[in-house]
Amino acid sequence: MNKPTVVSGIRPTGYLHLGNYFGAVQNFLRMQENYNCYFFIADIHSLTTHPTPENLQSGVRQVLAEYLACGIDPEKSTIFIQSDVPEITELYTFLNMNAYLGELERTTSFKDKARQQPENVNAGLLTYPVLMAADIIIHKAHFVPVGKDQEQNLEMTRKFAKRFNRMYKSDVFPIPKPFTFDGADLVKVPGLDGSGKMGKSEGNAINLYDDPKDIRKKVMRAVTDAGPTEKNSEKPEPVQNLFNLMKIVSDPAVVQQFDEAYVKCEIRYGDMKKQLAEDIVSFTAPIRERIVEILADDAYLAKVAKMGSEKARESAVATLKEVKDLIGFRKLF
Ligand code: TYM
Repeated sequence: MNKPTVVSGIRPTGYLHLGNYFGAVQNFLRMQENYNCYFFIADIHSLTTHPTPENLQSGVRQVLAEYLACGIDPEKSTIFIQSDVPEITELYTFLNMNAYLGELERTTSFKDKARQQPENVNAGLLTYPVLMAADIIIHKAHFVPVGKDQEQNLEMTRKFAKRFNRMYKSDVFPIPKPFTFDGADLVKVPGLDGSGKMGKSEGNAINLYDDPKDIRKKVMRAVTDAGPTEKNSEKPEPVQNLFNLMKIVSDPAVVQQFDEAYVKCEIRYGDMKKQLAEDIVSFTAPIRERIVEILADDAYLAKVAKMGSEKARESAVATLKEVKDLIGFRKLF
């Protein structure tokens, strides 16, 4: 029986952080045995923030090495760089013809970006969900493992795939679903600054590649409060975030111990942060070592990228042929 197909990507705009790992990569690792997996580096998407050529190149190398260091196996999964597969941008062009200004302007991520960077509201930002849809449906994906922040973009992908099928009276595209293991909710890893989610541009991230010293420093600076004054009181958001992070990286018994201390108003945030920092370091240190090793091996990185782009193109070329035929691009001579 054919394995279901999975597609997911990460922008190469820095280092992978714990949000990327627990929101996405952890699911990639769990899926690569039993699914037909395509994991890519979204270098075209990263152009919305105008990286220099040097930053673009080093970001792509870094994410490739980090994918491998985390345990994504290029023999089992197809690991590729988005710009190596030009069929994606061709499909993006076709999908753009049926994507409407109103729906694109209403996307939360577009509205957020337009607010954060009013001097750079480019057309690539507006059509970002269309390029994402092309990434996903070009391989006829059934599942997309992503974090909570990508939920709305995925909803747009589903809409564009359904619209194309309906318009051309076909079922060329399966309608892809967000994926988490065991049907759990999509993950949102909190940042250390007391609010929202961990993110590259938020400056609140712990990276897999961070030095243990830096990790300890970052965690010790995490925002908390003066501590509970009444027993069994509810946790304010920054404290709840710290607990949520601990639930992700630490042993359940450790979380329980600090939770009980909180309930009894005996919590010492300094101790909790020390424990959290050590648990993060023991998780990231071996990955960091492998990243360093892999980054030193250019020939291996080049081989993986070449193999991945060949496999990804094979599938992309086949889908694009069907799509062009459906649209009516038929040979006249
Ligand atoms: P990006 O590069 O911002 O993030 C990559 C992946 O990490 C997840 N993630 C998080 N999950 C939980 N908590 C967090 N704090 C957190 N921060 C990041 C994201 O949900 C994502 O899964 N548009 C995408 C890249 C992309 C893509 C695609 C993904 C382009 N094409 C097609 C899937 C399918 C993005 O910017 O992710």
